[in-house]
Parts: sequence; structure tokens; C-alpha cells
Amino acid sequence: MEKILVIGAAGQLGSELTQALVDRYSGEQVMATDINAAANSKFDFCRFQVLDVMDKKALTDLVAKEKFTQIYHLAAILSATGEKNPHFAWALNMESLLTVLELAKIHGIKVYWPSSIAVFGPNTPMQNTPQHCVMDPNTVYGISKQAGERWCEYYFQKYGVDVRSLRYPGLIGYKSLPGGGTTDYAVDIYHKAIAGEAFECFLSEKTYLPMMYMPDAIKATLDLMHAPKEQVKIRSSYNLSGMSFSPKEIHESILRKYPDFKISYQPDFRQAIADSWPDSIDDSAARADWGWAHQYDLDAMTDDILANLPAYMKHFV
Ligand SMILES: NC(=O)c1ccc[n+]([C@@H]2O[C@H](COP(=O)([O-])OP(=O)(O)OC[C@H]3O[C@@H](n4cnc5c(N)ncnc54)[C@H](O)[C@@H]3O)[C@@H](O)[C@H]2O)c1
Repeated sequence: MEKILVIGAAGQLGSELTQALVDRYSGEQVMATDINAAANSKFDFCRFQVLDVMDKKALTDLVAKEKFTQIYHLAAILSATGEKNPHFAWALNMESLLTVLELAKIHGIKVYWPSSIAVFGPNTPMQNTPQHCVMDPNTVYGISKQAGERWCEYYFQKYGVDVRSLRYPGLIGYKSLPGGGTTDYAVDIYHKAIAGEAFECFLSEKTYLPMMYMPDAIKATLDLMHAPKEQVKIRSSYNLSGMSFSPKEIHESILRKYPDFKISYQPDFRQAIADSWPDSIDDSAARADWGWAHQYDLDAMTDDILANLPAYMKHFV
């Protein structure tokens, strides 16, 4: 029987991925963990335990006790937050991954670890960025994700650890608030539109970035983790693509439903981060190897969020 540990379960991705795992398996088979003790209230549908992933002993003891067969390691310091404390971001993002990979090696555990488009940099081809190309990340977050990818491949090649990974684009969902990334504006903008307030965007109007609606990200994650082993040919991390748009285009998409919604642009330090990332991604390897296909484009995502977020707002007060 599968037993699944989710680390960093209370964040933007984890909140929805943990629910999807419980839907697929059961509440007894999935344990959500996070450093944030208050997140306990989110997980009435599965087991929850407070866990600081940097506490190696606590994690080692938990894995030995529970005999997990899969670990989804989601805890990380994201791009914008990482720049405020680079050494801490490096320590958390790297040390935690190495601990998880080592435990996976010892106990034969399958691992999911997310990478990001932040692995790319200013000398990467910006349009339809290939799976294999120049990667010169210039944020500590991107550097940690690129190094993490190399470690994942290393553990697969040297020790046979079944580790799988996706380079997520910016993730957009309405069920939780974003955690300090450069694409957060594309979540915040819907909250402002529904509240009837104007939106000040921290990126310029023509900044194109690869993005993905959360249901597609969850589907990609579960598809990859359940693909037969021989179909998972890339053990660093797969390029993954859903859509690509600019702040101007998401504003226009919202205007279809909220015609008076106003936007202004005040680019800050996150503009330089966004400028170093690709405009769009070539994910043909994921499509060929394990059949990835996305469902949502910008307008379909906007329609779904604007239909569901108003009723969901009460969860944020
Ligand atoms: N959200 C995106 O757009 C995006 C894009 C690309 C990749 N990713 C990756 O996906 C993963 C999840 O991202 P997210 O958006 O859910 O992030 P998030 O910041 O919303 O959530 C991270 C969670 O980790 C927890 N955490 C932080 N430090 C911890 C520690 N020491 N021990 C245990 N838990 C700890 C936080 O409390 C939080 O609940 C990360 O690895 C991130 O790099 C996210």
C-alpha cells in the first residue's frame, strides 16, 4: 500500500496537491506536513503534522516510523523572497533536497521535487525555450533549482532513486495565496478585480511569462508520478508549458467580465527577475514521453477563477 508524505503541504501548490493525492489514495495514506503549525486547520481531510524540513532528525525519524513509499517535497523559499535572504534560501532549498534524496536512497522511496522556469537565465533562448539549452540563472532561487536538478539526476544515475521533477511555470490558483514568487501578480490581480479595486502591477505591461492554471499543474504532477518508470526519460526536470501572457493580456481577459477594472504599472525589483526568464517554453519532451497535455488557456482560466473565487473569498479572512 502506498504511503505518501507531503513536505511544505500548506503552500500554494501543496494545499491543492495534497487534496488531489487524498482524492486519489485516501486520507489515511497521505500525511501533510509543514513548518506552519496554523496550517493544521487546512487539513481536516488527512493527517497533518508540524515538520521543519531542516530538522533532519525529525524527518529521518518520521520516515523510518511511517514507512512512506512516496515523498512530495514542496518546501522552498521562492524567487522574490529568496533575494531578500540568499544564504538562507540556498540552505533551505539545497539541504532539504539532499536530506530527502538520501532518505529515498536508503528506504527506496519515490520522490517528487518541483523545479522551476527560474533555472533559465539571461542567455537562455527566450522564445519556446528548449529542454536542453544554456542555463545561467541569476537568482539564488534559480541557482538552487538548477543545482537541485543536477542532484536529482545524480541520485537517479548513481543510486537508482526514482526521482521525478517538473519545471513549473508561474502557478495560478484561487484556493490559496501565493508564496513570494515573481509571477504572484497573476493571482493577486483576480482578488483586486473581484474586490472592485484597481490593481498596481509590479511588472511592466508587456512582460511575457510562462504560466499555468493550478488544475493543469496538479494533473501534470500526478501524470508524471504515475507514468511507468521507463517513460520518464528525463531525471533532471521536464520543461512544462500551459500558456504565456503579459499583464496587459490578463487585464484584458478580466475586462471581459469586469469592464471597469483598472490596472497601472509600477515595476520593482521583480522586473529584472522576470526579464531573465523565458517568454514561452517548449515542453515537447513531456508531451512525447508521458503524454502531457494542458487544458486551460488564459480566458478559460479567467472564467473559472472569476466564477469560483467570490464564493471562496471567505477562506482568506
Ligand atoms: N508557485 C509557483 O508559481 C511555483 C513555480 C515554480 C516552482 N514552484 C515550486 O513548487 C514548490 C511549492 O511552491 P508554492 O508556490 O506552494 O510555495 P509556497 O511558498 O506557497 O509554499 C511553501 C510551503 O513550504 C513551507 N515551508 C517553508 N519552510 C519550511 C520548512 N523549513 N519546513 C517545512 N515547510 C516549510 C511554507 O510554510 C509553505 O507552506 C516549491 O518548491 C516551489 O519552488 C512553485
